[in-house]
Amino acid sequence: MKPIRVGLLGLGVVGGGTIEVLRRNREEIARRAGREILITHATAKNLDKSRDFALDGIALVADAHALVSNPEIDIICELIGGDTNTKELVLAAIAHGKHVVTANKALLARHGTEIFAAAQKHQVMVAFEAAVAGGIPIIKALREGLSANRIEWIAGIINGTSNFILSEMRSRGASFESVLKEAQAKGYAEADPSFDIEGIDAAHKLTILSAIAFGTPVQFESAYTEGISKLTDKDIKYAEQLGYRIKLLGITRWTKAGIELRVHPTLIPEKRLIANVEGVMNAVLVKGDAVGATLYSGRGAGAEATASAVIADLVDVTRMLTSDPEHRVPHLAFQPDQLRDTPILPIEKIETAYYLRISAYDQPGVMADVTRILADSYISIDAMLQKEAEEGEDIVDVIILTHLCIEEHANAAIQKIEGLPTIVGKVVRIRLEELN
Ligand code: HSE
Repeated sequence: MKPIRVGLLGLGVVGGGTIEVLRRNREEIARRAGREILITHATAKNLDKSRDFALDGIALVADAHALVSNPEIDIICELIGGDTNTKELVLAAIAHGKHVVTANKALLARHGTEIFAAAQKHQVMVAFEAAVAGGIPIIKALREGLSANRIEWIAGIINGTSNFILSEMRSRGASFESVLKEAQAKGYAEADPSFDIEGIDAAHKLTILSAIAFGTPVQFESAYTEGISKLTDKDIKYAEQLGYRIKLLGITRWTKAGIELRVHPTLIPEKRLIANVEGVMNAVLVKGDAVGATLYSGRGAGAEATASAVIADLVDVTRMLTSDPEHRVPHLAFQPDQLRDTPILPIEKIETAYYLRISAYDQPGVMADVTRILADSYISIDAMLQKEAEEGEDIVDVIILTHLCIEEHANAAIQKIEGLPTIVGKVVRIRLEELN
């Protein structure tokens, strides 16, 4: 049978990994796909740049638009990233009847609905395993492996850079800035590091997971996003003393009132497996009503780990070319006419528990005032820790862990606590999930 011909947009880290792995495992991949998969054409911003992978047998094309319309190409593999010119290129490829494989989370989180509608219209596939959690086959697990379940919630460590920073801050007491530089040097960080540390990259990925889990359109603009740049080593240490680790978690949960879609630093019990996923590793915990909790873990970035997911999609598309469009696996797991407009809950309406760090004058009655405010707001205390004041100081740190409550009630209570004359500065609040 004729080989499948792939046109590659982007010759960066993931593009290079894809070329290498396809070449190295060529025979094995062809045995699985039923046909040989060949990258025949490629384009990049700077074609003259020296690269540490060979481009033998690949025709380099300067004009990306010429590549996406080339009749000799069956699948366009978009590994440029970002959503500036990629949307236009992907839509052009679709309009020319090409199937698309992409690792572009920003593109799908922001424009997925438009792109999938175009793919539907032109009866082509858009595959995106590599867009979420690098090499972990989480899209396939959610879309196919768990299709018997009503998904209840997903909690994921889906940004390797943040996880690396938090792990190093905890284990070696390293500063935020120095660890960020290390992550950038290792090539894990996004071009704009604020995407990693402010939770935007994780929110892109979570938005895609949420849509697939609950059968809703992709709605990045409704995601709540809070990063790790304001976390202090003090809170990491206190959390540890209470038996918790702080992770940047992406959480999406179905509730009767709507869907929670939120990325923020989160305390999780250190006894949970996911709490022990350290460094740049990613992990996604999925709770299905039939299967219970399942955990998927592995490398969430890097050339060959991401190439593993890209090539799995190339194999999938190659296999599915023989099935008629109506019987292919739907892009967003649910049939296109079965997507639901379930609302995304504003962050004030979500339900979670909290870690509160309060700086208080060491005087009689302070704790009574604080606990009275919490009780009046129907917030129940789960654990408390008061540190002794430093020699010569009269201010102490008080840590309170709460039970589950609605975020707007917690906000009101925190505001009242901050108004007490015996409390100094702002209350530090970090959300806490038991994940049980
Ligand atoms: N910057 C991302 C991360 C890379 O750190 O996880 C893969 O999306």
